[in-house]
Amino acid sequence: MAIACIAGARPNFMKVAPLAGALERAGLDPYIIHTGQHYDEKMSQSFFDDLAIPRPAANLEVGSGSHVFQIAEVMKRLELQFAERRPQAVLVVGDVNSTVAATITAVKLGLPVAHVEAGLRSFDRSMPEETNRILTDAVADWLFTSEPSGEANLRREGIPPERIFFVGNVMIDTLLAQLPKARLERAFERFGCSPKSYIVLTMHRPSNVDDPARLREILRAVTELNRASPVLFVAHPRTRGRIMQFGFDRDPELNGFRAIEPLGYRSMLSLNESARLVVTDSGGIQEETTVLGVPCLTIRDNTERPITIEVGSNRLVSHRTKAILAAATEALSAGEKSWKIPEKWDGKASERIAEVLTTLLGK
Ligand code: UD1
Repeated sequence: MAIACIAGARPNFMKVAPLAGALERAGLDPYIIHTGQHYDEKMSQSFFDDLAIPRPAANLEVGSGSHVFQIAEVMKRLELQFAERRPQAVLVVGDVNSTVAATITAVKLGLPVAHVEAGLRSFDRSMPEETNRILTDAVADWLFTSEPSGEANLRREGIPPERIFFVGNVMIDTLLAQLPKARLERAFERFGCSPKSYIVLTMHRPSNVDDPARLREILRAVTELNRASPVLFVAHPRTRGRIMQFGFDRDPELNGFRAIEPLGYRSMLSLNESARLVVTDSGGIQEETTVLGVPCLTIRDNTERPITIEVGSNRLVSHRTKAILAAATEALSAGEKSWKIPEKWDGKASERIAEVLTTLLGK
């Protein structure tokens, strides 16, 4: 009798960390299965170390490949894993390929599935995560939502309300728990910056980085921005690869910023908290900046996290050079702003999930 918690890619790790702890305290006997979708020290192990996540009971070592390859391999390897040790339930988080693959596998084997961060929708089917979200929520048993839009979307898709639980945001559990230690890191000093004087940039969505014309527009804006405020570009391996492939690293109009390797959880938190502005296309960072009180510009046409726009911490901006420059200039000159923290982003979401699961599993 145990709950298998699936972790595959970087944005899963900070969600699984507080859940593993809360399930353990509730006596639900969690164990972690790492799919191996992310495998670099900086994309995976450093998060296990920083967040003291229990060592995975198994690593499926799926690695990189096409989306079909990743999903198929996780399913094949996980079926063997579940045959070896049949859990009482399976817990999946977020929207990555490992999430949907584990969900389908569990459902096919008759295991109940809990999805944490359910119901988020960008309504953009060209985004790989959107298909993962829709498929996962359609077949998972228990849907834990992080913001009100989650429940509204699930209800619209015909999910019975008794399967939906508004518990809040587990990512914020980790953020609040780690903030005191993160502050001691003063990560900005490593890059010669002082607090509130620099911009942090992260970018890895295929829609932004796989298309050379689009990536060029963004990098041109960033190079320009860097003249006013230093830009620290925390580069995902995919983005770094594309910049080299397109030869943009050799173009002075496109390389005027400081590119740094992916950072550990606490260093990234420290860097973001002390930034003047964060520019990103990440989902999680839109939420983290909302709680950190740092304005965020999201280079996307849509967001599956509309609460961040509603409270006013986040703003969508197109990939066009001019649009990014105009939005960033406005954000930089706006001075300190404050906004309301979304409901139940209070550090207790994992505890709520453990409580609900305790009841559902009849413990
Ligand atoms: C995945 C998730 C995305 C999430 C992102 C965070 C899906 C569909 N996408 O995208 O939702 O926001 O993780 O990082 O699941 N690579 C390495 N080392 C690694 C992992 C990847 O170098 O440890 C490189 C490989 O070249 C790989 C590429 O990054 O081909 C992309 O990795 P992949 O897992 O396919 O997708 P991400 O873009 O990371």
